[in-house]
Amino acid sequence: MAEFHPKTFAFLCNWCTYTGADLAGTSRMLYPADFRVIKVPCTGRIDMEFIIKAFEQGADGVWVSGCHIGDCHYNTGNYYAQRRWTIFRQELAFLGIDLRRLKFTWISAAEGRKFADEAAEFVNRITQLGPYNEFQSILPENREVESILGGVS
Ligand code: FES
Repeated sequence: MAEFHPKTFAFLCNWCTYTGADLAGTSRMLYPADFRVIKVPCTGRIDMEFIIKAFEQGADGVWVSGCHIGDCHYNTGNYYAQRRWTIFRQELAFLGIDLRRLKFTWISAAEGRKFADEAAEFVNRITQLGPYNEFQSILPENREVESILGGVS
């Protein structure tokens, strides 16, 4: 049987975690490469729709990471993100999404080691969970998604 490589997405804040990932790379730290990085200007830009769309596109896991609280380059973006994340988790759980497939971290530009460790933890966890085939059966039957997303499809 072929080895399973999960398909995952990592929404990384441009100013901190993305730069931390860069540091991990230039420092030659090893970590699994089984995630696709999507650079966002700030975690405050993350919308629940991004997460649902990622799963719709076949993601087995989604990771969001940005600047530590107090370090956001837009001052309050990650405060909003932190509050939204609490709501997102409740709504995503309501939809039936497996919350073990979500990860949220704060990683600064200087924390290359932390980035590598968190990336390894994320990919290993999703690999152990296996393909997220159940997601495809959740959305088409769940009419609540449209109302939660405000009709955005
Ligand atoms: Fe990084 Fe806001 S700029 S979380």
